[in-house]
Amino acid sequence: MKALIVGCGDVGTRLGLAWAADGVEVHGVRRSPGEIPPPIRPVVGDARRAETYAAVPMDLDYVVYAAAAGAPRDEDAYRRAYVDGPRVLLAHLAARGAAPASIVFASSTAVYAQDDGSTVDEASETAPTDFRGRTLLEGERLVRAASPHGRVVRLGGIYGPGRTQLIDGVRAGRVGLSEGGASAWTNRIHAEDAARLLRFVAELPAGAPQVLNGVDREPAPRDEVVRWLAARCGVRPAVCGDAPTRGGNKRCVSDLAVSLGFSFLYPDFRAGYESLLADSD
Ligand SMILES: NC(=O)c1ccc[n+]([C@@H]2O[C@H](COP(=O)([O-])OP(=O)(O)OC[C@H]3O[C@@H](n4cnc5c(N)ncnc54)[C@H](OP(=O)(O)O)[C@@H]3O)[C@@H](O)[C@H]2O)c1
Repeated sequence: MKALIVGCGDVGTRLGLAWAADGVEVHGVRRSPGEIPPPIRPVVGDARRAETYAAVPMDLDYVVYAAAAGAPRDEDAYRRAYVDGPRVLLAHLAARGAAPASIVFASSTAVYAQDDGSTVDEASETAPTDFRGRTLLEGERLVRAASPHGRVVRLGGIYGPGRTQLIDGVRAGRVGLSEGGASAWTNRIHAEDAARLLRFVAELPAGAPQVLNGVDREPAPRDEVVRWLAARCGVRPAVCGDAPTRGGNKRCVSDLAVSLGFSFLYPDFRAGYESLLADSD
């Protein structure tokens, strides 16, 4: 079995290492040299250049696109990462006659603009109002149009080892409760579960759903998460004015993934943050 992971960062590397541990030959693409751990085979290059893929075998079983827009996270960066990259990759796969069993695009719940606390599943409207959601949706459409095996996983906010901004912010009093007492619903997924879910979706049989939400089992009001973290860290939660709601105010659900057989290692924020805090205790 052979897999290509384009955007071999945190989640992509977790995925690649898991596949490689099970005997899959994994090729991982990113621009920075020296960052991709063996046994993933490093491919140093830009996802937006066809020559990047010149040495990658095309008898691939799985392709996962998990490149992320880097700083500055402006519209151009989003377009490069989520539209130009997939377009070049898909054109290359087609030109070389590659026929992987699946092509999975790591998207985001940012494609949902719901801001009223409503429940959001894969059938919910996608009408993004800013460039983030719009470019991600464009990338999704490219992947889904390229192949009946083109699939999309809409990930919530990723946290995990090394991604502890919220814990650090609560501890330092930089992140606190919203002043009005009513905070937005937030949606997240542990990085390990994100990688496991991308693999799960890549390995689903032909005819599987093309779109899955990638969020844990418990959307949570932001204040509830802050309050829990503060208590767990033994600090009094700060009150920091109205919390930013860039992620909107929606309750994304992952019932479809679970109904297909996926199980979360970290089904809610408590389980996920507890594992991070236990490591640092
Ligand atoms: N962060 C979140 O909360 C969140 C939420 C929803 C969805 N997602 C999506 O989840 C996926 C995985 O995210 P992550 O946390 O693993 O991100 P990450 O750690 O930042 O990894 C992304 C990787 O993409 C590579 N990359 C970026 N542009 C590239 C390009 N043009 N060509 C080749 N490689 C490129 C970067 O490496 P180089 O810079 O070395 O190229 C980096 O290694 C991404 O698609 C992201 O958009 C993230």
